Amino acid sequence: MLLLGIESSCDETGAAVVRGAREVLSNVTASQHELHEEYAGVVPEIASRAHVEAIVPVVRRALADAGAGFADLGGIAVGHRPGLVGSLLIGIAGAKALAWALGLPLVGVDHVHAHLYAGLLERGGARGGRSDEAGGDRLFPALGLVVSGGHTSLYVMRSPIELERVGATIDDAMGEAFDKAATILGLAHPGGPNLDRLASTPGADERAHRFPIARLSRESLDMSFSGLKTSMLYAVRGLPGRGEHGPQGYERTHAELSEEERRDLAASFRRAAVDAVLLKLERALGRFEELAGGPCRGVLTGGGVTANSLLRRELGRVAAERGLPLRLPPPDLCVDNAAMIAGLGHELLAAGRTAGLTLAPVPTTAC
Ligand code: KG4
Ligand code: ZN
Repeated sequence: MLLLGIESSCDETGAAVVRGAREVLSNVTASQHELHEEYAGVVPEIASRAHVEAIVPVVRRALADAGAGFADLGGIAVGHRPGLVGSLLIGIAGAKALAWALGLPLVGVDHVHAHLYAGLLERGGARGGRSDEAGGDRLFPALGLVVSGGHTSLYVMRSPIELERVGATIDDAMGEAFDKAATILGLAHPGGPNLDRLASTPGADERAHRFPIARLSRESLDMSFSGLKTSMLYAVRGLPGRGEHGPQGYERTHAELSEEERRDLAASFRRAAVDAVLLKLERALGRFEELAGGPCRGVLTGGGVTANSLLRRELGRVAAERGLPLRLPPPDLCVDNAAMIAGLGHELLAAGRTAGLTLAPVPTTAC
């Protein structure tokens, strides 16, 4: 059975066709990055308007790429939470119109849970990011890690649709911290990938600057990235009023940094951010039996920041050290996409979890 998935929670309009929960037949994403670049962040009203323009061509393209027509579809899945309400509304309205007109079931999908599904998808016969041959079902109970621009959370997953959040950031999301740090360094929006590239420059020294890692309490699986972000601000500008990089009251700008300083700051920041999330991932693995009532059988990861080159390497290392299968999506399925919505939508539909035409956008995640 083919499902059409629609994604519009932030600044990407996506549509995808997935067969039988796992096989991605098409995955189309219209990005709005250049529209938001001059504001160094997503402007909700601009995002909503761009979704209105993109949604019909993106859906048409996804069907064409899959070689499918409306008559081939068995359902419509849409990301309905969390996200920008104006953006979510466009995808939801489109999905409802299609479900109603075609007489198909409608499924509302949690965007954050869908990020954890991305590593289970298969494309063109290849199993993206799979590090073992075990079937998906044998991965559970699993530990889930979502690190994106809006969310940074750890989950105990009994299945792709039965999951419980056991830790989350108490302030900024990891991607948000990357984006703000990149802006402080004078890099273009979206900052995360640009900071990653700068940090990967040959010769960049990740030990040049010591950034703080939030541990919170000894047992805590929660995270915090706002101190790290502020620390980057002070590293560049100097502590307020101290005149560290010039006369008293003077604040240095990124334009005054040497190329060497910039790349070392980027590398040191990336190292601290990655170590902060690994600390909590390892802590959650250590506490897994107590949390889940049984041993961990796999690690599922997703969200835009899992496209980060250092985080990918480190996740691979941690999983290998513990002999755990790791589902790390290929980079284009780490960031927002509709294939993950369609895939998880399949699972929810199979479990009878359909929505009515009253499905509404929800700005926050349920758990
Ligand atoms: O999952 P996503 O596309 O949207 C949300 O659901 O938030 O994640 C976008 C976030 C942005 O903050 C972006 O800067 C970050 O993921 N990101 C990265 C990298 N690629 C994307 N952060 C660090 N390194 C990367 N390579
Ligand atoms: Zn996302």
